[in-house]
Amino acid sequence: MKVSSAAFLRSALHPRDFPKDGLPEIAFAGRSNVGKSSLLNTLLRRKGLAKTSKTPGKTRTINFFSVNERLYFVDLPGYGFAKVSKDLQATWGAMITSYLYDREPLRLVAHLIDARHPPTRNDHELLALLEDAETPTLLLATKIDKVRSSQRRAAIATIRKDFELDEDALILPMSSVTGEGIRELWQILDEQI
Ligand code: GTP
Ligand code: MG
Repeated sequence: MKVSSAAFLRSALHPRDFPKDGLPEIAFAGRSNVGKSSLLNTLLRRKGLAKTSKTPGKTRTINFFSVNERLYFVDLPGYGFAKVSKDLQATWGAMITSYLYDREPLRLVAHLIDARHPPTRNDHELLALLEDAETPTLLLATKIDKVRSSQRRAAIATIRKDFELDEDALILPMSSVTGEGIRELWQILDEQI
């Protein structure tokens, strides 16, 4: 899809604040700092549209971005961010869980995994939740620019093995820095919307 317009719509902490027009949604989920907001900006070619930070825990609400007034990109808060209190973590968990389970317009969840490290316990929890919710999911191995080319296959294989995925299950290598994977990701998104 050619992006002709992209704009921040609103932040939501509660389903009553979600858009009501029923346009399809693509959500970005994964650990804090894995690069969800950066990927959204790179896909839309709008630097700084979604706020990013070197420090984990930047995105703390469910943020809706309108794309070509035809669909929404949904930037989710990350998980596994140790500095927040247990209470806040529980609130976040409940908020994200209810979005992923109950959101009718949700077409696809891009599940971002840091290509440099094996999946964490939280990554496993999200995978299980998405399977349970029967939400179509696409796994992305992000920050692939940080992985030496000789290590790439092994890095992807680690995720595949750890998640007990089939040989042919797609894990798309991505980088918001080099733009690797962006064209392939758009092709997949175009098929969902
Ligand atoms: P939360 O909002 O805290 O959940 O984090 P997030 O997943 O939205 O991460 P964000 O996009 O804010 O990026 C976190 C950091 O990783 C920033 O310093 C980004 O510049 C950096 N980053 C994001 N994507 C990439 C990538 O593909 N490669 C590299 N090298 N750095 C990246
Ligand atoms: Mg973010």
